[in-house]
Amino acid sequence: MSFAVTTIIFAFLLFTFMYFLFKLFLHSKQKTIIHEKPPGPPTLPIIGNLHILGTLPHRTLQSLSKKYGPIMSLQLGQVPAIVISSSKAAESFLKTHDIVFASRPKIQGSELMSYGSKGMAFCEYGPYWRSVRKFCTLKLLSASKVEMSGPIRKEELSILVNTLKKAALVGEVVNVSEVVENLIEDIVYKLMFGRSKYEQFDLKSLVQEGLALIGAFNLADYVPWLGIFDLQGLTKSCKKVSKALDEVLEVILTEHEQAANVNKTQKDFVDILLSIMHQTIDIEGEQNLVIDRTNIKAILLDMIVAAIDTSATSIEWALSELLRHPRVMKKLQDEIQNEVGNKRMVNEKDLKKLNYLDMVVDETLRLYPVAPLLVPRESRESTTIDGYFIKEKTRLIVNAWAIGRDPNVWSENAKEFYPERFVEKKMNYLGQEFESIPFGSGRRRCPGIQLGLITVKLVIAQFIHCFNWELPHNISPSNLNMEEKFGLTIPRAQHLHAIPSYRLNDAKLE
Ligand code: HEM
Repeated sequence: MSFAVTTIIFAFLLFTFMYFLFKLFLHSKQKTIIHEKPPGPPTLPIIGNLHILGTLPHRTLQSLSKKYGPIMSLQLGQVPAIVISSSKAAESFLKTHDIVFASRPKIQGSELMSYGSKGMAFCEYGPYWRSVRKFCTLKLLSASKVEMSGPIRKEELSILVNTLKKAALVGEVVNVSEVVENLIEDIVYKLMFGRSKYEQFDLKSLVQEGLALIGAFNLADYVPWLGIFDLQGLTKSCKKVSKALDEVLEVILTEHEQAANVNKTQKDFVDILLSIMHQTIDIEGEQNLVIDRTNIKAILLDMIVAAIDTSATSIEWALSELLRHPRVMKKLQDEIQNEVGNKRMVNEKDLKKLNYLDMVVDETLRLYPVAPLLVPRESRESTTIDGYFIKEKTRLIVNAWAIGRDPNVWSENAKEFYPERFVEKKMNYLGQEFESIPFGSGRRRCPGIQLGLITVKLVIAQFIHCFNWELPHNISPSNLNMEEKFGLTIPRAQHLHAIPSYRLNDAKLE
């Protein structure tokens, strides 16, 4: 064999050896990268990181993310979790990998209260959820349905403005938080049940109890074997409230069934849902998904839970910030007055022309996304994102509160209430922007955005157009307490109180 041939064979063997060595090295390196969990704080046995969450988890998680980064691991009891704290990471999880995280974890509150999570908000991803969501989006929450429900909002607001006028006459201090909550409850019940007052039961207290229970931190969701001891008494309370709510919903459904032949000008949610009872709503034709009474009750309950606190809390924060910022309040009053005049109330058609109102609402939702950690999701399969391995059934927590306050995105004045930052940037919340995600994003994005926004905008506009508001005498704009409390939503820790004075010349209730 010539020297040249020996050299070629030797070079070939060397190359092959190097190639396999390189592949082996790369493979083992990839393997370690792929199976690496995102960084996170050290854990304790059994409870993991539960002890560090504190009373305001969105704030704790925001400071932890400064140390561990925008994609962070947590161990919540036995449940592995990933916490997302930047808009870039949110885009990656809720847009690029949305389908992986489109499910919800089973939590005890909704399992017990929402008929085994048979509604929409807490339902696992699959053909049933897709069909229910499509039905509700088209038949209950579409733009035309929202528009048709305008008279309900108008009527309820007119009643409230007249009540507040009386309070204004005597200079009464009004509990604004309570007034707003009652108003939203009345609007939502009218929309869903056709009426808001029932003599035979106290619907409002029951729903409030239910909301508190679903929003409560339940140890059994994180350390399931502790569930049988019911250490917090939540299982017992959930069963009690759920039984009472079921009785109420039964009365409401029966009442609607008995009046089925009465010609109604406006069909409420119960009418529409009852019209598909015993029918299939299977959009994909894969399964025989027939809607029964239990499904209807579960969907109704989810809608109530999703609609009331969210809208009421957003309005409460907007009014608080307006009271703290007389400049913004005046600018908004001027805008409305220019468009509407000072002789009549605002109507829904006016809203389109109120640009500064849009900015005030966007700024409120940026600073106070009422579901600060959105609604938890769960990964449907194992996946690798940004080099991190995330295993199946990992809880996804998106810190929308931290994202909206990120100084890298919203500049150094990110914590300030400054609506003008939206002059050039109009939010539409349709899932293309991730810098502020008060309605979530992706497949699980809130389907009630239009209804929520129109309600929030109309109530704020009406409140400040019809009245000047002053804080009670011992409170100044700079020392108004702005602390929040954590639950299903983050309302003010203390109710907002203020004194109205009527400012229209001749209010025709248009
Ligand atoms: C200002 C008002 C509202 C805000 C800020 C809000 C916010 C949210 C958020 C953050 C989510 C979770 C999204 C996610 O997981 O990515 C959600 C879900 C949901 N919202 Fe809203 N919401 C509002 C009003 C409403 C209204 C008026 C309704 C209906 C009557 C509604 C119905 C729902 C439902 C059914 C879900 C669950 C969707 C699903 O899991 O498929 N929301 N909302």
